[in-house]
Amino acid sequence: MNNRLLEALKCQNKGRPPVWLMRQAGRYMPEYSALRKKHTFLDICHQSELIVQTTLLPIELLNVDAAIIFSDLLLLAQPLGFNLVYDEGIGPLIDPVIRDPSGIPKIRSGAIENKLAPLFEAISILRKQLKVPLLGFAGAPFTLASYLIEGKTNRELRYTKQWMLSDPESFHQLLDRLSEATAQLLMLQIEAGVQAVQLFDSWAMALSPEHFRIFALPYMDKVRQKLPPGFPVIYFSRGAHGSSLAQAHPTAISVDWTVDLPQLRKQFPTKIAVQGNLDPSWLYAPQEKLKVAVNELLNSMKDDPGYIFNLGHGIPPDVPFSNVQYLVSLLN
Ligand code: CP3
Repeated sequence: MNNRLLEALKCQNKGRPPVWLMRQAGRYMPEYSALRKKHTFLDICHQSELIVQTTLLPIELLNVDAAIIFSDLLLLAQPLGFNLVYDEGIGPLIDPVIRDPSGIPKIRSGAIENKLAPLFEAISILRKQLKVPLLGFAGAPFTLASYLIEGKTNRELRYTKQWMLSDPESFHQLLDRLSEATAQLLMLQIEAGVQAVQLFDSWAMALSPEHFRIFALPYMDKVRQKLPPGFPVIYFSRGAHGSSLAQAHPTAISVDWTVDLPQLRKQFPTKIAVQGNLDPSWLYAPQEKLKVAVNELLNSMKDDPGYIFNLGHGIPPDVPFSNVQYLVSLLN
């Protein structure tokens, strides 16, 4: 059993750093593209055998130290009563959107276990097969709220901020409701067998540091508090707020390349694990250059028992697959 990741989450890893990647399975992978010719993305997410197969691809083809369950953070919108589609050109689309307090009571409860049953089934099947730890995940409440309000990816978060600042009280009620649902989703993943979870606050980068402290962080903490005490939770934020994440008591913080990782490490010497943060665009570079970038990062985190190698964000669909394989081989 390869338990490097779980050891690093305890800041007790004595060997090389563990590596896993965000969007570990995806369109950069020929085998995944072949599967996608036969099934839609949502079809894969709703069939346990396909979830198992897709989750295992990077384990078989890349030799990473952890598996992340194949799903999407927006899948939770479905049991909450929203329609979800992935448009090839545009990305995810959610309807109906909620843009004021009248939408809060329309959020359904009680359907997660049933509607996402294949996800939990896949987790228990995978746990019996895997020789590396299995990670679960969910969107952080602020990021989930932003999708339910905007209805699609929308960098400025115009409608989200409109609600947030014109009526903060009901916006907090929305975040509270979504924290509950997110914790339920994660509890079901944990009961099915995941060994750590990651909360993605991908759109919190649109917030000022003050608004991040008011509208994002407390709800990551709220979700964490509803999980079993001591269960490993990794917080990820993109583009900003990396060091603030530590204030909400995570096991590990995961940051992107906008953060100076050794500098961040000095702020949190041993208790919190840190994960990151190679710019995934390095995967476009020639292998000699990719190697230099990886070695620089590894040297800067040398002998850190709580360091987990990862990319600062997901793998772009058009990078050469051989470069992703090469990247992971550099860690082994
Ligand atoms: O990392 C993994 O391998 C696990 C699977 C995973 C996916 N999405 C699969 C996916 C994870 C952890 C996510 C998280 C996710 N989803 C985030 C947070 C991380 C981040 O990107 O900041 C967000 C914001 C989403 C929402 C989402 N899902 C968008 C905006 C899109 C479309 C844009 C895109 O990159 O294609 C998706 C689709 C999606 N989720 C794909 C995959 C493999 C591509 C689907 C396809 O095959 O067409």
